[in-house]
Amino acid sequence: MTAGARQDRDFILVQASGIHGTGVFAKRSIPKGTRVIEYAGRRISKAQLLEAADRGERLLTYVLNLDKDTAIDGAEQGNDARFINHSCEPNCEVYIFDEIPYIYAMQDIPAEAELTFDYQLKSTRPLRISLALSRELFPCNCGAPRCRGTLVAPPKKRAASSRNSSERSAPPQG
Ligand SMILES: C[S@@+](CC[C@H](N)C(=O)[O-])C[C@H]1O[C@@H](n2cnc3c(N)ncnc32)[C@H](O)[C@@H]1O
Ligand SMILES: [Zn+2]
Repeated sequence: MTAGARQDRDFILVQASGIHGTGVFAKRSIPKGTRVIEYAGRRISKAQLLEAADRGERLLTYVLNLDKDTAIDGAEQGNDARFINHSCEPNCEVYIFDEIPYIYAMQDIPAEAELTFDYQLKSTRPLRISLALSRELFPCNCGAPRCRGTLVAPPKKRAASSRNSSERSAPPQG
């Protein structure tokens, strides 16, 4: 391939968001299925992370679940992906390949649209918090027509697919 035939694969820019603080936006149209960016950051054991958070030594703002035991903290060694906001009707999703999480476009995304994924926050405690408390503690401002009002994951339907959604997003919360 000649240099002239190369495509500019830099799809995103970071700027102020109407959803919250800083967000990530499409610099150009992004076709469905595009691997947009890796969710980079320091790998850390969830147990360590939660202990540090309980002691008030660490925030969980940029934390992404990786697997049962490990999370990624985008606050350290992170990249622009850490600024992607949540939406209850997102245009991106997280997939993990070879233990590396990537943000993928789950639909065609027009230029200038904000990129979002569904955080699906889950409690690390055995008891589920009520919807009312979820909305109070983790309110959602995504503005989607079917916004559930919270960043917390909806309860699993009994006949839900066996895919483990915790592998796709969801920073651990206390
Ligand atoms: C990974 S950061 C996203 C980047 C963030 N906007 C910033 O300026 O740093 C996650 C935090 O952004 C906020 N956030 C993201 N999506 C949101 C939403 N839909 N509604 C309200 N707050 C949101 C929450 O405070 C959340 O803990
Ligand atoms: Zn919402």
